[in-house]
Amino acid sequence: MNKITAAITCVNGYVPENVLSNQDLEKMVDTNDEWIVSRTGIKERRILNTPGLATSDMAVEAVNGLLKKRGITAEEIEVIIFATVTGDMIFPSTACILADKIGAKNAWGFDLLAACSGFLFSLETAAKFIESGKYKNVLVVGADKMSAIIDYTDRNTCIIFGDGAGCVLLEPNYEGLGVVDAILKIDGQGRHFLHQKAGGSLKPPTHETIDAKEHYVYQDGKNVYKFAVKGMAEVSAQIMERNHLTSDDVTWLVPHQANLRIIDATADRMGLDKNKVMINIDHFGNTTNGTLPLCLWEWENKLKKGDNLVLSAFGGGFTWGAVYLKWAYDTNI
Ligand code: UT7
Repeated sequence: MNKITAAITCVNGYVPENVLSNQDLEKMVDTNDEWIVSRTGIKERRILNTPGLATSDMAVEAVNGLLKKRGITAEEIEVIIFATVTGDMIFPSTACILADKIGAKNAWGFDLLAACSGFLFSLETAAKFIESGKYKNVLVVGADKMSAIIDYTDRNTCIIFGDGAGCVLLEPNYEGLGVVDAILKIDGQGRHFLHQKAGGSLKPPTHETIDAKEHYVYQDGKNVYKFAVKGMAEVSAQIMERNHLTSDDVTWLVPHQANLRIIDATADRMGLDKNKVMINIDHFGNTTNGTLPLCLWEWENKLKKGDNLVLSAFGGGFTWGAVYLKWAYDTNI
């Protein structure tokens, strides 16, 4: 029997209806559309502002749509890997909550925390479950309600992030399609530049931590930018070299959507034309774990069986990496 590879066989996404535009932000903080577009590429983002709804609720929408598209039931899912930094609660895992809400009665699963690289780390993890031969249906979700941890009086961060959820189903493939290679990295020195100071065991939440706004995202943007440009470009070039891929061989770059300038630098380093790069930052902003599956979802009908995709990301931790995969199906939608 041929070697088992882990192929994405379906993708879906969900974003809330409510739009937060640059013009809206101009009324909230000292910023302007020109600055935001030229520095980040973002024009608007989606915000989940319905009281009582959380990250899992966006995931439910995305996953139920995926199950319908693929024609399988929730009971057929065996493993759920949920990449998020904004789980519904510190515990239990949002994978548990999602499984309950969609009726995935036969699944086990867990949350995976790797900030903006979480979807990539989850994809590699899920691929190993499939390649082992033991599992046939592994669900990978990347979802974040970033608006829950953003200070909308801080212009350094509130212009960047948005809410959204994406998911893919991984199944065994015997034609060599699916995940081919992954290079993933972490460097905890980077924790000082991008983090949420309070709420964990180091600094449990108190009135003081709330007053000091330490439950919100802190980012030293300039430093993160410096490491992100270098890290994402280097690892993307590295995965091409290791797999003997020329820029002509790469059909699509699927980059994390943190900043259009970081995406452009990565594409340049890989020698790719702009028309080979998936970009949704203009209309969704940085949805953290949602960016990569949301790109795949929006580009699904352009993808062809055998296309070579390089997915790459950089995020808090620091965490970063690249995954090379061969797309496994043509879509007629
Ligand atoms: O996804 C996880 C990983 N995260 C990233 O990869 C993000 C990496 N960082 C970035 O994308 C960029 O650093 C930012 C978009 C966050 C900021 O862009 P920047 O070009 O690095 O701006 P800066 O922080 O160096 O600020 C430049 C100027 C400053 O003013 P002065 O000191 O030059 O007078 C800021 O105060 O722009 C000012 N500024 C703003 N002005 C208008 C900062 N934020 C804003 C704003 N509107 N929203």
